[in-house]
Amino acid sequence: MTKPNPVSVCVIGAGTMGRGIAQIALAAGHRVSLVDPAADQLAAAAEDIAQRLSRRQPEVAAALPTQLSTHTSVEDTPAAQRTLVVEAVLESLAVKTAVLSDALNHFGADCILATNTSSLSVTAIAAGTPSPERVVGMHFFNPVPVMRLVEVVTGLQTDPDVADEVAGLATAWGKQVARVRSAPGFIVNRVARGFYAEALRLVEEQVATPEAIDEVLRGAGQFRMGPFELMDLIGNDVNAAVTRSVWTAFNFDPRFEPSRIQDEVVAAGRYGRKTGYGFYSYADGATPARPTPVPPGAAPPRVGFGGSSAQLETLLARTGVEVDHREDLGAAAVLGDGTVLRVTRGRTAREESRALGGTPVVLVDRTVSPGDTTAIAVASSHHDTLGAVAALFAAGGIDVHEVGDAPGLVVARTLAVIINEAWETALHGVASPDDIDVAMQLGTNYPSGPFEWTRRWGAPEVIELVDALWATYHDTRYRASRELRLVGTEPTASQ
Ligand code: NAI
Repeated sequence: MTKPNPVSVCVIGAGTMGRGIAQIALAAGHRVSLVDPAADQLAAAAEDIAQRLSRRQPEVAAALPTQLSTHTSVEDTPAAQRTLVVEAVLESLAVKTAVLSDALNHFGADCILATNTSSLSVTAIAAGTPSPERVVGMHFFNPVPVMRLVEVVTGLQTDPDVADEVAGLATAWGKQVARVRSAPGFIVNRVARGFYAEALRLVEEQVATPEAIDEVLRGAGQFRMGPFELMDLIGNDVNAAVTRSVWTAFNFDPRFEPSRIQDEVVAAGRYGRKTGYGFYSYADGATPARPTPVPPGAAPPRVGFGGSSAQLETLLARTGVEVDHREDLGAAAVLGDGTVLRVTRGRTAREESRALGGTPVVLVDRTVSPGDTTAIAVASSHHDTLGAVAALFAAGGIDVHEVGDAPGLVVARTLAVIINEAWETALHGVASPDDIDVAMQLGTNYPSGPFEWTRRWGAPEVIELVDALWATYHDTRYRASRELRLVGTEPTASQ
């Protein structure tokens, strides 16, 4: 039997999020009152909660008659002292401030007013109530009982003790807390924007298809889902609205600029899985098509390799090819026909080839875990060299996907942009590097956090890539974060 928790919880809004929040508060032993003016929503929510609890926590379900009450108005709820109010009503500043002000009036000055807003300013919501110091952000993720992350957001006037208390409660509910200072998109909805934006830009520039981008971000980036299948799952309407709201809140910073091709998809009503069509078609249970890899040609019997690229070393070892060690090649490998193979540093294959006096160059995308890579993007300065590269990697169980010769290919570019935004978020004191890493892993299922990627990849290499994007586009979206540049250009012991 769950021990009763003395803190009463009042959840306002019995929709998708409110139901989940009420469920986990009940499971943690709180008495919960659930409020929604729509009586049918309330009834459906109570039934939903009871069903889910009876499957997973029957002892909590059995206690529902005494532990859960439903009300169409906050004035009708039992007014216990030190109530934690969590609002999950529709995303409107006016509605949220009205709801929280009514709750404060009903529960008294010692209640805590938590908002589950995903895009509004916690500071602005707080300022609309008579006690802004009692207002705090408690940003849950959908589905609430499954997703482990809660962003606890402190507005400019939030009492730090209130934020601490809410963080403690969220932890007691089995959640992992990331502490955030109120800023657009908090951590997750801000740092994740680049995952979608770079993919959309690559399609817009016809560098690669959605299928190929999804494939290599899964196969080399270790992401559980590619950006296009994820946008289709979230809903392109919802995803585009989040981007637009973060962009607007950042005063139209190009870093967060919405994508015209996603706007087109939304305008067509192609919201994704829920409408049967997004970037992919889901008609009749269809699953997104897989891209066709480059057909393997004749495999090179041996390659020369300088050895100073850990990624290429692991990939070549997997292929079983005979490797001749050649000091002069550094991080590059050379195939029998003289083609140079190297991991992208941000310059295009044509630029690298020009620098080598016209030698054919094939650039390999970055992989997060070379030992686990199943698909990889390549770009070449001379198209006819790719059959041999495809044969080489096929021997190691890795599919090769040709993409256009754009800086940073797919994975390297996406990671660099996400990492850069993470450093900027930390630089602005919005959250600590550790909290950012935790938030990105638990809020979006990233395989690692952006600071962990920086450690593994190397800050100098990330900066080199961000600067290459800047050099190509001269778009301020690719301005490097000051702290990342500092760390990335610091002399190290080995230099
Ligand atoms: P929803 O549309 O499923 O539920 C909203 C509920 O609020 C409805 O039941 C509605 O009847 C009720 N409501 C409207 N006005 C009210 C009032 N004055 N008093 C009490 N209840 C009222 O919405 P959902 O998806 O649950 O979102 C709620 C909040 O959570 C929004 O602020 C949203 O931005 C945020 N959020 C949503 C996430 C999601 O994935 N759905 C994730 C994280 C945050």
